[in-house]
Amino acid sequence: MSYNLLKGKRGIISGALDENSIAWKVAEKAHAEGATFVLTNAPIAMRMGEIKQLAEKTNSQIIPADATNIDDLTNLFTKSQEILGGKVDFVLHSIGMSVNIRKNIPYTELNYEYFAKGIDVSAFSLHKMLSVAKKLDAINEWGSVVALSYIAAQRTYPFYTDMADIKAMLESIARSFGYHYGTDKKVRINTISQSPTKTTAGSGVKGFGDFYEYADKNSPLGNASAESCADFCIALFSDLTKMVTMQNIFHDGGYSSTGASMELMEKFNKA
Ligand SMILES: NC(=O)c1ccc[n+]([C@@H]2O[C@H](COP(=O)([O-])OP(=O)(O)OC[C@H]3O[C@@H](n4cnc5c(N)ncnc54)[C@H](O)[C@@H]3O)[C@@H](O)[C@H]2O)c1
Repeated sequence: MSYNLLKGKRGIISGALDENSIAWKVAEKAHAEGATFVLTNAPIAMRMGEIKQLAEKTNSQIIPADATNIDDLTNLFTKSQEILGGKVDFVLHSIGMSVNIRKNIPYTELNYEYFAKGIDVSAFSLHKMLSVAKKLDAINEWGSVVALSYIAAQRTYPFYTDMADIKAMLESIARSFGYHYGTDKKVRINTISQSPTKTTAGSGVKGFGDFYEYADKNSPLGNASAESCADFCIALFSDLTKMVTMQNIFHDGGYSSTGASMELMEKFNKA
């Protein structure tokens, strides 16, 4: 069902790699809600065949950009405004990558070059996007920027290794930049802390399958799907959440407020 919540709004959606990507679902829903937008992804990561399908389906254009590269981001925000016919109203940051996770390196033995790369790709990239957008004055007043995070920013999940620290930084950037951009231009910046989700980035984390089941059983509503995450992104892009900014909002079926579910406890019942 659609409500025309983004009618007339223009946006930039990063991170749609394949149809499992959270960003893919956001693009489909933003299109259904009446938005026009540009799709972007890293030139090397982009699976052209797949993203082209999404572009055709949503009547959008693709602008390749490495989110760690200021020139690429400047081109992205400049060209997007040309293509869309004005400043943008929403931006989705749906970018995450850790070489340490990919290579199964334990937290206490992190490779610092990989760590730095992970910080650049997954956290600095939000700062860089916002800094470029602000310099170009590319986002309309009351525009909304959403980045995706994970609860390991607040609590320890050993297998999430350096991404835990990186997500904590991402959330902090959303707050800090949210202050400045809010004061100067009334632009809103939030992070959504999403349930484990079966995507390329998610499934790359060691033991993801078991953990997915654990989180599902410890959430009164079950894990939130990529599709429901997309719904929440749309809500945050819309005018119905105009006074929400600098927040990290849990979108996790109640997981973050649950100590232990009866269902999980029963697994330990020895009687
Ligand atoms: N899947 C989960 O369990 C989960 C849970 C909470 C938060 N998240 C976050 O959601 C976001 C989206 O991930 P996803 O789960 O949809 O997986 P995904 O693998 O589909 O998306 C990650 C995207 O980041 C892009 N990317 C990587 N390096 C880049 C660069 N240098 N420049 C531009 N783009 C780059 C990839 O190409 C890919 O499209 C990430 O921030 C992830 O950490 C995921």
